[in-house]
Amino acid sequence: MDRRIITIDGPAGAGKTTVSKALARELGCVYVDTGALYRGVAFEIQRRQINWKDSSRLEPFLDCLDLDFVMEGREPVLTSSGRDISAYIRTHDISMLASATSAVPQVRKALLGIQKSIAGERDAVFEGRDMGTAVFPDAPYKFFLTADVNVRARRRFEESSASGIPFEKILKDMVKRDADDTQRTVSPLKQAPDAILIDATALDISQVVEKMKSMIKVL
Ligand code: DC
Repeated sequence: MDRRIITIDGPAGAGKTTVSKALARELGCVYVDTGALYRGVAFEIQRRQINWKDSSRLEPFLDCLDLDFVMEGREPVLTSSGRDISAYIRTHDISMLASATSAVPQVRKALLGIQKSIAGERDAVFEGRDMGTAVFPDAPYKFFLTADVNVRARRRFEESSASGIPFEKILKDMVKRDADDTQRTVSPLKQAPDAILIDATALDISQVVEKMKSMIKVL
């Protein structure tokens, strides 16, 4: 692969988004949040009331789905049929639906092309669950970022304090989402054999970014 592609996989709440954005900024490349694509699918399923468990309903829906990233500076903004939907995809319900629907092989297949086409055009930091294992197995720089589930849930709780969702629910749902993401048959969340593991339980964002930068230099 000629392009400089950096993959950052790991469970929810490990700090992937903040780290990926900071790393992309420092390296002068784009940041791609692939979870946003799965959230976009979930958002449209919810909005159009699609019975996604029925493949005869899901397939025509996916065929017509028109998700895209539009560049705003270095940050791609998610659009659906040309409309910016980024403000609607971060709710708790969409998180849970995205996790459930991302286990469906047709959904993963439908999102593969868009991820590959971005990598063909630009150097990029890709954040997700299966970047280093399934989507970009040949990427030269791969990281797996994780942290203790209690620390991750606490971060999410603090980020979403306005939602009023209690810490216990956030923790319980995070444990469920971890289990769903790691146990699904297609492209489960797991560390690629050649990915560097970083445990951020006791690290702050800048320490993680520095670690990654120093490793990218020596790789
Ligand atoms: O990173 P996130 O929390 O925004 O992702 C939402 C869901 O999408 C997550 O529970 C699993 C799924 N996902 C995935 O299956 N593969 C990816 N590359 C990114 C996200």
